[in-house]
Amino acid sequence: MSDKITLISQLKDFVGKEATLAGWIYQARSSGKIQFIIIRDGTGLCQCVAEKAKIPEDIFNKLEHLGQESSLKITGLVRAESRSVGGYELAVTNAEIIHAATDYPITPKEHGIDFLLKHRHLHLRSQRQWCIGKIRHTVIDAIRRFFNDNGFTLIDTPILMAAAGEEEQSLFEVDYFGSTLFLSQTGQLHLESAAAAYGKVYCFGPTFRAEKSKTRRHLTEFWMVEPEVAFIDLNGLLELAENFVSFIVSRVLQDNKPHLETLGADIAALENIKPPFYRLTYTEAVEILKGEKTAKFMAEQLIQLNQQKEQIEKRIAELEAEQAGQIKQWKRDKNAAELITLRSDFEEVNIKIENNPKHAKLAAEFNWGKDLGGSDETIISTMHDRPVFVTHYPKQAKAFYMKTDRDNKKVVQNFDMLAPKGFGEIIGGSVREDDYEMLLKRIDEMRLKREYYDWYLDLRKYGSVPHGGFGLGVERTVAWITGEPHIRQCIPFPRMMDKVYI
Ligand code: 4AD
Ligand code: MG
Repeated sequence: MSDKITLISQLKDFVGKEATLAGWIYQARSSGKIQFIIIRDGTGLCQCVAEKAKIPEDIFNKLEHLGQESSLKITGLVRAESRSVGGYELAVTNAEIIHAATDYPITPKEHGIDFLLKHRHLHLRSQRQWCIGKIRHTVIDAIRRFFNDNGFTLIDTPILMAAAGEEEQSLFEVDYFGSTLFLSQTGQLHLESAAAAYGKVYCFGPTFRAEKSKTRRHLTEFWMVEPEVAFIDLNGLLELAENFVSFIVSRVLQDNKPHLETLGADIAALENIKPPFYRLTYTEAVEILKGEKTAKFMAEQLIQLNQQKEQIEKRIAELEAEQAGQIKQWKRDKNAAELITLRSDFEEVNIKIENNPKHAKLAAEFNWGKDLGGSDETIISTMHDRPVFVTHYPKQAKAFYMKTDRDNKKVVQNFDMLAPKGFGEIIGGSVREDDYEMLLKRIDEMRLKREYYDWYLDLRKYGSVPHGGFGLGVERTVAWITGEPHIRQCIPFPRMMDKVYI
């Protein structure tokens, strides 16, 4: 057996040649004479075909008794096979078992999300999680490339903080040698000081928020990238944000097509993500929410959801009937896998059906002045096929550092970017208040402790300039791009309000 290992991702260069793969058994089935073993090696999947008549008997027997996730090296002749996963197959000639696993807990049968989260250390190996991880990698790489190639300097901001950068209610306290510090909710304030030193800067790191919400959009630890730019206005920020997000999506389309396909992501919709994005003011968004168009849209959506529910129920019944009969094992496993997806889709659809009238009511009764709620964002974002900027929110609903609009003092020069298809906010940003007196007034109005913000106020004393920036949440961006409804699936080891598993 050759010592040289070939990666599954390189098989296209080995057609007609012998190759040795090193990996784990993802799935296997045997007819007694021929075994189909799908190997995964971290770069992809490859079906290996072992025929009893063609390989030493002891090897055939050893392979036949290997459990899911056993590790091995396997050698054979590579052939192109368009019907096989990945497009290539290995006609097995030899194998070396490295570790025989038995009773791997994650089987193709149904597992609840709780079970899978408890087994995240193993679940990372599953196709879905693996594809999401690959896309997350590209997103993060694209983020760094975009800023590095556009003249931004990376500034690492602290994680241990003396004061709040966002709402004080979501601070995590840390005992710091007897005094209290907080885990960083944002690097923005420190970044503003760096923008006055370097002009264009960004920070990128883990962010912590003690959010008391168990929604599909909230983690207590998430990754955020924040650019900050000196001499920029709101339009400049919107342009930066739409170019940035379009770049990330184009890089994922370039590098991750097969992963997107496996996940069933909407590739055509992603190809449509190009500047300019839609622009609405908050006041316009509120008019839309309270208007006829939304009422009609919600009613139509309810009809569609009920149709979807019926279709799912029908398919589940079909599959359950098949499962009750006599069918081949591979078909049984395939059906079981489809049933898992269908049951989770069914749950999703039911939740949406339940929420639809509540959300329609919230929208119809929305009062100018409140922050947009998750369901309001969902409605606006579902009505659009490309991301939407919502700008100029009421001052009372927003953070102290946002610049008061000089033409309308009730609103601030800020924006949220809502991803389309109901995914909601992926970016929050603003122009910063650059006037010393006005900033001080906001700090007092919001009853923040002045002494913590002395250094921040200094930036308005020594060469204050118009400046601004934004923060993009990595997990929400990955959720939107992959079409994954829950952001807990978009970080390898999620931390949520009610649960930290491993
Ligand atoms: O809108 P946010 O709170 O903005 C800030 O933190 C600003 N200081 C950023 C800036 O202007 N430099 O958060 C920015 C983004 C959100 O749009 C969202 O994508 C993500 O961070 N985010 C979360 N992601 C997951 N779980 C949570 N609990 C999140 N809270 C915010
Ligand atoms: Mg926000």
